[in-house]
Amino acid sequence: MQPVFDYLKQHQARFVAELCDYLRLPSVSAQPQHKKDLTACGEWLVTHCRQIGLDARLCQTAGHPIVVAKTPRRKNSRRPHFMVYGHYDVQPPEPLELWETPPFEPRIVGREIFARGSTDNKGQNFAHLKAVEAYLKTGTPLPCDLTFVIEGEEEVGSANLSKFLKSHRAELRCDAVVVSDTGMPSLRHPALTYSLRGIIAFEITLHGPARDLHSGVFGGAVENPAMALAQLLAKIRDDRGRVKIPGFYDGVSPLSKFERAQAAKYPLKDAQLKKLLGAPELFGERGFTPTEQRSARPTFEINGLTSGYQGEGSKTIVPAWARAKITCRLVPNQSPARVRKVVCDYLKKICPPTVRLEIEAGHGAEAYLVSPTGAPAQAALRALKQAFGAEPILMREGGSIPIVNEFKTILAADSLLLGLGLPDDNAHSPNEKFNLDCFAKGQAMSAHLWQELAR
Ligand code: BES
Ligand code: MN
Repeated sequence: MQPVFDYLKQHQARFVAELCDYLRLPSVSAQPQHKKDLTACGEWLVTHCRQIGLDARLCQTAGHPIVVAKTPRRKNSRRPHFMVYGHYDVQPPEPLELWETPPFEPRIVGREIFARGSTDNKGQNFAHLKAVEAYLKTGTPLPCDLTFVIEGEEEVGSANLSKFLKSHRAELRCDAVVVSDTGMPSLRHPALTYSLRGIIAFEITLHGPARDLHSGVFGGAVENPAMALAQLLAKIRDDRGRVKIPGFYDGVSPLSKFERAQAAKYPLKDAQLKKLLGAPELFGERGFTPTEQRSARPTFEINGLTSGYQGEGSKTIVPAWARAKITCRLVPNQSPARVRKVVCDYLKKICPPTVRLEIEAGHGAEAYLVSPTGAPAQAALRALKQAFGAEPILMREGGSIPIVNEFKTILAADSLLLGLGLPDDNAHSPNEKFNLDCFAKGQAMSAHLWQELAR
């Protein structure tokens, strides 16, 4: 194993330069004008995987392509097989004016690399590729077979990957999936995440008059859709974020003593969190701590709100329509279809007759929860400890990785969530970054992991 770690050490500078090349590709999956950039990014990855000795191909889908790359197989191998899952697509970089330097021109400051997609998720999946490169280039035998699946649609709900899993079930069947697409509290607190929240996404549009109207001439005698939307949304939750939709919490089990004790060990304190987020005050459902609120409780969030005139100066109109982009985060035992139904029913019930309600359904995924006591989880904890030189913690995370449920249902594989992101990495925000120590230690963690998993 020493040659692997020596190799990783010797080649860090080149790895960082290569990561910069990866980050320069603007693979924004949500924006149609970037479609070609996603294919280019997938092709770049395939070429890179071949250079490091993997057997790689680009698989087309109805959406953005999927990269599949395998370690060279031995004939009739009965060795354990693990999948490494990641995504090469990134969130939209807007608002651009808040970036200190452009999002697709990587910039290194001290031990941080700034670029859209650096932590979420290019830097994290690249760490695993570099660990495998070290095995292959030093001729160190891997104790298992590995298949990398790096998709281009995670940030838009992974709609085409589940079809791909079904049509490639035999090839992708594996003992476990390794995913580095979550976080850890700090470099001194490596973490194994054992639960993720689920999600439902939708858009609500309220249609009023057939066109924008003069607000002086007609205002007062016709409903203002923006105001109607504000009033509608105000009926969704109480002043501490508890959702008032009947049935919303059905099936949600209370947190066990063990879980509450685990959450209480999370090292980031409330005051630090408040400072990190730059919020005037923390906020959240009564009876739960901030750690519990953001990882183990369901929410109703407005992600975007649009209506009327958005340009400079004033324009006196009654807008024709108003729209809200919404996501609800879900916890184990909340079915996305059922929550979607209770939300839609409630909105229809409270919508006044002065506007027409249109609801457009988006993606959805169940929450994920796996026992952290099994043998693969124990192997992962050992690998984290060896690489980071600190005792790992167990945590639940509030973000979602829709496909992990389908790894379970389609491939019968549990996912090991070994995040390398830090709380101040600005995922989905301006000035996203990735810490180069997380990058290097992530590579070491991956190198250890294959030994530990195959033990
Ligand atoms: N890497 C995140 C998920 C994540 C982040 C999980 C931090 C836990 C902690 C992933 O790329 C992501 O952002 N997923 C989306 C999924 C959605 C668009 C379907 C999310 O959670 O918003
Ligand atoms: Mn993301």
